[in-house]
Amino acid sequence: MDIDYGPLTGLIGTFKGEKGLDIAPDPDGTEKNAYYETIVFTPAGDVTNAEEQTLVALHYHQIVSRKSNNEVFHDQTGYWMWDQSKDEIFQSIAIPRVVCVLANGEAQTESNGDIVINVSTDVDGVLQSPFMHKKAKTTSFKQTFTLKGDTLHYHETTMVDIYGNNFEHTDTNTLVKIS
Ligand code: HEM
Repeated sequence: MDIDYGPLTGLIGTFKGEKGLDIAPDPDGTEKNAYYETIVFTPAGDVTNAEEQTLVALHYHQIVSRKSNNEVFHDQTGYWMWDQSKDEIFQSIAIPRVVCVLANGEAQTESNGDIVINVSTDVDGVLQSPFMHKKAKTTSFKQTFTLKGDTLHYHETTMVDIYGNNFEHTDTNTLVKIS
């Protein structure tokens, strides 16, 4: 039988977006980076946990390049998971700064058919190296995905304790499914 990916179904495929804006910490305050990116969402099947919980999962890989020099400056991977019985969504994130995040939340279908997914976590959902814990500690993460047909918009906020401030590191983009 085909697996039902529920609110994640519309994400399966390859999305590209050219209008990204990154606001990142900088020793002098803030740096802003315009970016383009590709996110590939691939069905990863279903799993059961402790014979009780069933999850379906999409693997994703997000590759983000700075417009100013065309270099990849953010590479992120993980899973989006859905627990149908609780109608709960989970996102796992791994980035090569030795930071991993596990956020959870829910998906809603709006009256116009848009699917809105909100996930978040406080510091309890963050695993980071001793270096990052000391020097650039992620203290919370939240993200909203809005899927309108083949158009995906996201906005995410990562709070980072760095350079003596709790910095609001944000990333936002609008992508279109190309395959
Ligand atoms: C499109 C997504 C993202 C982009 C383009 C991006 C980009 C950046 C950039 C340019 C910096 C500054 C790096 C530097 O100063 O050398 C930075 C810092 C940081 N980012 Fe992100 N980021 C993204 C998402 C995330 C996410 C999802 C997390 C964690 C959940 C995260 C965690 C951090 C941390 C902890 C730092 C502080 C490290 C530092 O500045 O020295 N970022 N990011």
